[in-house]
This record gives sequence, structure tokens and C-alpha cells, in this order.
Amino acid sequence: MPPCRICGGSVIEFADFGRQPISDAFRLPSQTDEEFFYHLAAGICQSCTMVQLLSEVPREMMFHEQYPYRTSESAMMASHFELFAQRLLETELLDSDPFVVEIGSNDGAMLKAISNAGVRHLGVDPSGEAARLATQAGVRVRVDFFEKSSAAAIRCADGPAKVIFSANTFSHIPYIGSVLEGIDELLADDGVFVFEERYLADIIASSSFDQIYDEHFYLFCVRSVCNLAARHGFEVVDAEHLTVHGGAIRYTLARTGRRRPSAAVAELLDREATLGLADLATFTRFATNAKTIRDDLMVLLRELRSQGKTVVGYGATAKSATAINYCGMTPDLIPFVCDSTPGKQGRLMPGSGIPVRPPSAFSQPYPDYALLFAWNHAEEIMANERAFHESGGKWILYVPDVHVA
Ligand code: SAH
Ligand code: TYD
Ligand code: ZN
Repeated sequence: MPPCRICGGSVIEFADFGRQPISDAFRLPSQTDEEFFYHLAAGICQSCTMVQLLSEVPREMMFHEQYPYRTSESAMMASHFELFAQRLLETELLDSDPFVVEIGSNDGAMLKAISNAGVRHLGVDPSGEAARLATQAGVRVRVDFFEKSSAAAIRCADGPAKVIFSANTFSHIPYIGSVLEGIDELLADDGVFVFEERYLADIIASSSFDQIYDEHFYLFCVRSVCNLAARHGFEVVDAEHLTVHGGAIRYTLARTGRRRPSAAVAELLDREATLGLADLATFTRFATNAKTIRDDLMVLLRELRSQGKTVVGYGATAKSATAINYCGMTPDLIPFVCDSTPGKQGRLMPGSGIPVRPPSAFSQPYPDYALLFAWNHAEEIMANERAFHESGGKWILYVPDVHVA
């Protein structure tokens, strides 16, 4: 077992999802080179409690020119980040000429509003095509990986940052120590590092095993983030529970002693202790639940096929790579998956080779059932596809358990 990526402590494995492809690698049907697979297993550090993967995929294989994920494919997420940008403008960014950096700025969903307000900013993201969309929206981007060296170069060119923000990216970075050293270098003395990430407590509570995949190298909770921050001279001064992506926390870190931690931090730490979020038994139960979901889902899909019913997937999510390949779903059970992202359409789902089609294919004709891989966008997708349900179609969901709606 490799040592903990944070503290060098010993990591105990609690879940094994076997051989898995790169979750956002949508291949063209014409591609003949061999697909890359790695072993996906997760464990918890016995010393610092950080939940982490046991092997890492080289970062350039995941995040590159054609990385297809786009924040703004969800109107709900776009407005979530715009609202947060407005809040920053009204709170942390009131000084004269503040500078904001975003790590993993993707298509500019958050920085767009900062740019429109005329505030100095820089997005850092290695995904070239996503960065170009941000640039077109008026956002300044450095196409690069954020780490100690790039942070030092940014500090040299632009001076200290009042706010460094990151959403759904900090957990993607195994070399997190280098990122925190970079933040230490770049952040103003009284600045804050704010990041939001899917919350381990919600993942456990909903048995959403599909939140474990190559990009999610760490699964954070307040306790493990407090331990991590302290190792680098930072302190968690606020933690806000969010509903996005199935449950997330927005952490605010400041240099140790600079700000008084809010009551929310202690409350969440207490709740995590009550939930047994550091106990191996909690994780063993989670792994058992994942197996039950896998078995129930495959029984349902095979039963529907034997009844001659059609089932189509909805949402070519990174999460679905784990769900599809762990369960062993094949094109004869799910003939295609609908997704609104242009860079995924016409390509194949990683591992399974199930084709990805645009949402327009969904109604031609409607299937009997739709398996919702983007369950975290259920409200938005079900509203967009209201006609499917109204015409008798049924949604299949698999978290927290397999059910039909
Ligand atoms: N913040 C957006 C995008 C999340 S997807 C949102 O919440 O929707 C993760 C993004 O992180 C991708 O665009 C990827 O290219 C980027 N990324 C991965 N490693 C990074 C690193 N070391 N520095 C900066 N960005 C990184
Ligand atoms: P998401 O669940 O946000 O992320 P991840 O890849 O990290 O699991 O992905 C949602 C996917 O669903 C994305 O590919 C866009 C797609 N989508 C639609 O096809 N239609 C929609 O209405 C929405 C909101 C998303
Ligand atoms: Zn550790």
C-alpha cells in the first residue's frame, strides 16, 4: 500500500473498483490505439484521516487541450458560480485594485463575473479548449497546471492575490503539498484561499460510489482539510455546506491566527465525529452498499432487456465511468448515452465504448427508461426533459439506492 500522499502515514484500503479507464477520455470510434486503464481503489489514512486513491493517473493524460468537461453545460452550476463571484465582490474584494486567482477556471463560469466587474484576475487551467472559451468571455487565463513554480511566476508578474478560489479541482491534484506551497507564495498576508469540493459525509450518506474516479484523488471532509491546512500554516476559518454535486463544502482558509474560525467549523467537526467519518467500519459499509447497488442495478437492467424495454443513459459524466465499468454495463444494455457537451458527442464512453449522442437523440423515439448518470443535475435535466416523463418514460436512479421515478 503506498504511504499517505499528505502525511506519509499508512493508508488502509476500503474499496476496490477494479480496472478503470480515464473518466473523461471520450474516444473517437475511429481511434485504434489501445485504451489506457488503471486500477481504481480508495483508502483512508490512519494518521491524518485523508481519504485518497491508491494509484494516480499522470496529470497530462487527464487534463490537456481536449479535456471535455464544461462547467456551463449546467445552467444551475453557472448561476451558482456567478452568485459566488457577486458575493466575493461584495465582501473580500472591496480593497482598491484586488487580484483574484482561480485554480481550474475551466470555461470561465466564475471569473466571467469578476472580469465584468473590472477586477484584476487570472484563471489557471491546463485544459486549452476550455481556457479558450473563458478567454472569449473576457477572462484572462494562463494555460498551465497550478503548483509551486507557476504560483511563483504569477506572484512575480501580478503581485499577491487577495483571493485564490478553486472549485472541484483541489481534490484532483495528488501533489497538493506543492499547490499549498504555491498558495503560500501567492496569497496576500490577509488573503483567503476558498475552495469547494464534494463532501465525504454526503458521499458516504448517499453511497455514491461513482464519486470515486481518477480525477477525484482526494475525498475531503472538514477534519482532513483542517489537518492538511495546519501542515502548511493555514487554518480553516469557515466551512459552508452546499447542495451542488450531491453535497459539497466551501472551505475558507486563512493564514493561521489571521481570522477567527466561524462556529460552523466546530459544528461540522462535531457532526463528522458523530457520523464516524474516520472509522474504518463506516467505509466498509459504504463498499458493501456499492456492491448492493451494482447488483440491484444489473438485475434491473437485465430484467428490462428481457421484457423488451429500451433503456438509454443520460449524462456522460465522469462519475458514470466508475458506475458503468464497475457494474459491467455494455452497449447491449445501454445503446447510447445522451449529453449536451459538444466535445463528448459522437465519441464513445470510456471503457464500455457506449456511444454518446446529443440530447436531440433522446426523443427519436423516447426510450421506455432513462438511466440518470448525472443524478446531481436531476432537477435541471428532468425539467428540460419533462416531455419524456409526461409521455410515460421513467427515470432510473442508483443513489442512494436503485429506484425508478
Ligand atoms: N472549476 C470548474 C471546473 C472543474 S473541472 C467547476 O467547478 O466546474 C477541473 C478543472 O481543473 C479542469 O478544467 C482541469 O483542467 C483543471 N485542473 C486540473 N489540474 C489542475 C491544476 N494543477 N491547476 C489548475 N487547473 C487544474
Ligand atoms: P457532472 O455531473 O457535472 O460532472 P462529472 O463529469 O464530474 O461527473 O456532469 C454532468 C454532465 O451532464 C455533463 O457532461 C453535461 C451533462 N448535462 C446534460 O447533458 N444536460 C443537462 O441538462 C445538464 C445539466 C448536464
Ligand atoms: Zn495521512
